[in-house]
Amino acid sequence: MSSHGPAIPMTARRGGPLRGSAEVPGDKSISHRALIFGALAVGETRIEGLLEGQDVLDTAAAMRAFGAEVTRHGPGHWSVHGVGVGGFAEPEAVIDCGNSGTGVRLIMGAMATTPITATFTGDASLNSRPMGRVTDPLALFGARAFGRSGGRLPMTVIGAADPVPVRYTLPVASAQVKSAVLLAGLNAPGQTVVIEPEPTRDHTERMLRGFGAEVAVEDTSEGRVITLTGQPELRPQAVAVPRDPSSAAFPACAALMVPGSDVRIPGVSQNPTRNGLYLTLRDMGADIAFENPHEEGGEPVADLRLRHGGALRGIEVPPDRAASMIDEYPVLAALAGSAEGTTVMRGIGELRVKESDRIDAMARGLEACGVRVEETRDSLTVHGCGGDGVPGGATVESRLDHRIAMSFLCLGLVARDPVTVDDAGPIATSFPVFEALMRDLGADIRRDG
Ligand code: S3P
Repeated sequence: MSSHGPAIPMTARRGGPLRGSAEVPGDKSISHRALIFGALAVGETRIEGLLEGQDVLDTAAAMRAFGAEVTRHGPGHWSVHGVGVGGFAEPEAVIDCGNSGTGVRLIMGAMATTPITATFTGDASLNSRPMGRVTDPLALFGARAFGRSGGRLPMTVIGAADPVPVRYTLPVASAQVKSAVLLAGLNAPGQTVVIEPEPTRDHTERMLRGFGAEVAVEDTSEGRVITLTGQPELRPQAVAVPRDPSSAAFPACAALMVPGSDVRIPGVSQNPTRNGLYLTLRDMGADIAFENPHEEGGEPVADLRLRHGGALRGIEVPPDRAASMIDEYPVLAALAGSAEGTTVMRGIGELRVKESDRIDAMARGLEACGVRVEETRDSLTVHGCGGDGVPGGATVESRLDHRIAMSFLCLGLVARDPVTVDDAGPIATSFPVFEALMRDLGADIRRDG
């Protein structure tokens, strides 16, 4: 999907407390991977709880284009008949990954060591994002890529006919790059090694093991060293996708901002490479309980309970937590706008190359809502309005970025005057039921017109 039709302006207004249970959708990272690993296994993988957001639907379509049989049986219930490692067919048409950086980067990795050619494109947001971070390591395997200036999509990748294994140290903390290299390593002989100086989300490693690949992980002075033994036969799996902690962040932060709120969010992944926001919220004084901890599909999960207990305190977010909450900074910045005191977020330069430049998008939107901010190349400081309340009364640009749209709609629930986002359409990429779910909790969020 390279565009999503007419803009959908949406407005959030201050109202009563948020109460009830919020069943947020399945984890986006795990959903992409379940489809891709299913396509690389021999036989039928069954998936429960798949996120049916546009990003994941685009990956499902891509897996069909590479020859896998992908079937929807009911809400969140899908199956994938895979073609095996090295079994991808050459797609007949251009692969459109829509808005999804994860989709395109992982799929490029998955096809890069098979002798086929594929051309990738996306929407205006995706086509402006850097792909060199993936095509550089894929070239070491013998793959070639031809894109637009700056290593941007549309781009054609020619997979290596005689791939060689690779040892690669990640220059940026990126699970997408790590995963692309590991996926490429699947069809290379010998051992492919990825070294990550800072740990990033580890769903690929967990899932590779679940599908029967040999993956060794060692923490060393260089960082985390991940060694994959190539050319395994992946065995199909039953995958239960836990609920997405990055989507849960929106009702969670809204509950912590709106007085009188008490919200439960069941079955949310608490993978330690993803839970930095929840540690940070606790450091800010939030009342969060993690109930019923258990394991689901190889991932730790818990039921979250969030109760509003007064204004939160601004803090310095530890920069070494950045990778474990990289997608949560926009909503944290919104919450920081309503907190007491100053919140400083450092070491977040990666936010400049997400679906939008999220440092700039949050800074401009918060200023428009009457919040004082300062930014550098890789930091954002938000001076909370505390007891005076966030003025609001602005229309903010969502910039084809689902998380910017949802962050400002959450802020609108506590601002003195309504907050409008110019286009809430992108929310469908990751959280298609956001509007209904928030309204069920009692939030006043409505489409305009
Ligand atoms: C993702 C990794 C992160 C994250 C993205 C999903 C993944 O990106 O921002 O939403 O599923 O691997 P980077 O790894 O590029 O930081």
